[in-house]
Amino acid sequence: MEVVIVPDAEAGGELIAEAMAALLRRKPGAVLGVATGSTPLPVYRALEAKVRAGEAGVTRVRIAQLDEYVGLPAEHPESYRSVLRREVLEPLGISADAFLGPDGTTTDVPAACAAYEAALTAAGGVDLQLLGIGTDGHIGFNEPCSSLASRTRIKTLTEQTRVDNARFFDDISQVPHHVITQGIGTILEARHLVLLATGEGKADAVAATVEGPVAAVCPASALQLHAHATVVVDEAAASKLKLAEYFRHTFAAKPSWQGI
Ligand code: GLP
Repeated sequence: MEVVIVPDAEAGGELIAEAMAALLRRKPGAVLGVATGSTPLPVYRALEAKVRAGEAGVTRVRIAQLDEYVGLPAEHPESYRSVLRREVLEPLGISADAFLGPDGTTTDVPAACAAYEAALTAAGGVDLQLLGIGTDGHIGFNEPCSSLASRTRIKTLTEQTRVDNARFFDDISQVPHHVITQGIGTILEARHLVLLATGEGKADAVAATVEGPVAAVCPASALQLHAHATVVVDEAAASKLKLAEYFRHTFAAKPSWQGI
């Protein structure tokens, strides 16, 4: 696992967007796995700038969703499909046909989960999966004690996650209890995992992810099992890392051609 400590969220966004742009230059038909929440937004804005500047093409890219609320109408502004349309597809000029995601409006959730797994496989798998992290260490919507081998399935949100996500809704009663999420086993099949965490509120979860044991109680710690996982953190999110100086030193000494 590589840990990169950046000065702020914008620098993290730029670093990750450059990795995405480099991927698109060498593989124009790449599958880009995207995350929701506030943290990834600087990545999408930096990638948009690169696409506008002609540094990366998105005509053949496909965009894969990480997770979705169950029961919100697809056109609800806070369904993750709507959020990704607003934050990723429209600004980057990517057509809706290039979007892969689970159907959160379905009445047959297991079938929708199986269909999404099949769609990811048919697309050739995810090349780069961007991840945020919940304050409890969740990735996607894999809450603590999710199986590290889990596949796309329904999950019930913890009250803490519903409280954390209530800011996107008028009040907490509107935050769904159930979600569909790629499983941890599904996420681990992406070729490159990039987790971005910013702000002091994520410092404990980041420390458990990077320096704690691999344990389902901190789902993001499963990144330790992946051969190409990059954790990008700002100073505040890095504030509880015991090895922070080592991480700074190794990244500063890294050959510039290597990327993340
Ligand atoms: C939600 C999403 C996660 C995201 C998390 C953190 O729970 N399902 O994918 O990582 O929120 O969001 P934020 O980046 O806004 O803190």
